[in-house]
Amino acid sequence: MFHHESVLLKESIEGLNINPNGIYVDCTLGGGGHSSEILKRLDKGFLYCFDQDEEAIIAANTRLKRISRRYEIIQRNFKDLKEELNHRNVCKVNGILFDLGVSSPQFDQGKRGFSYQKEAKLDMRMDVNQSLSAYDIVNHYAFQDLFRIISRYGEERYAKNIARGIEKAREKKAIETTFELVDIIKKSVPAKSLRGKHPAKRTFQALRIETNRELEVLPEALEKAIDLLDVDGRICVISFHSLEDRIVKDIFKKYSKTPDVPRGLPILPKDLERPILKRINRKVIIPSNEELEENNRAHSAKLRIVQKVKEK
Ligand SMILES: C[S@@+](CC[C@H](N)C(=O)[O-])C[C@H]1O[C@@H](n2cnc3c(N)ncnc32)[C@H](O)[C@@H]1O
Repeated sequence: MFHHESVLLKESIEGLNINPNGIYVDCTLGGGGHSSEILKRLDKGFLYCFDQDEEAIIAANTRLKRISRRYEIIQRNFKDLKEELNHRNVCKVNGILFDLGVSSPQFDQGKRGFSYQKEAKLDMRMDVNQSLSAYDIVNHYAFQDLFRIISRYGEERYAKNIARGIEKAREKKAIETTFELVDIIKKSVPAKSLRGKHPAKRTFQALRIETNRELEVLPEALEKAIDLLDVDGRICVISFHSLEDRIVKDIFKKYSKTPDVPRGLPILPKDLERPILKRINRKVIIPSNEELEENNRAHSAKLRIVQKVKEK
């Protein structure tokens, strides 16, 4: 059973301002919650859905085909969205959604190794066909690289202790499972830090980000999404941690600034003064109290929406 409770569903679907005859892209199909709502609103329009996780695709496909056939699922990393759509002779679209991170089943089923609460082989690949896994990172990355990713992607203050703990443990034997890693982390951090949040939370986040190159693909995908978007079309991005949100915020800011106009132009062409994107929400949108009560995953969610004003 594949169940993922969609986050900020109403807000993001409203944010897309759907034209029933438009072309839409859901870059993160997951359980198909957002895609279903988009599909229900389409008449002659079409929806392209990306996901790199085969299990998610199979489950979402069963759900979507009950609504309509006006969609295609593309099993690819969303960093390739422009190439994949161009290949299908689609050069402009009317709206693009990103609901970042992993889906609940990826976490809850445990066997994928994303969760520090479930015993599994260290894996964490969203795309099971890629070769790099959390196992390779934990067992083969040099100390300095482990330290860098745990500290940067996990924002973990004890990153050095944990990287050292991993280095020492793997000298004796390879670190195979999530619980072996949790044990090493617990032994590496000061006793007082075992009281608050789970001590492995930040390291697991870091390993997941590194395994899936999450922070590297996001800027590339957002740049391509802005290219693909037609004027008046919208991009909605839901992010789940500050590192992701910062990337989204900075790219949207870069394109929603009034361009620097060359000095000494006698009359400014009107178009030159306008930015490429307009921010629809000045303040980031967060889930309502009701949603927070019902869905624990919604806690760190942030939604940003932009509309294209003119071509890049
Ligand atoms: C939070 S879930 C999406 C949930 C979905 N919006 C729903 O309501 O059911 C994120 C999904 O995006 C996929 N994903 C994350 N990063 C991706 C990437 N770079 N390329 C393709 N799919 C990705 C994950 O495999 C996961 O299934």
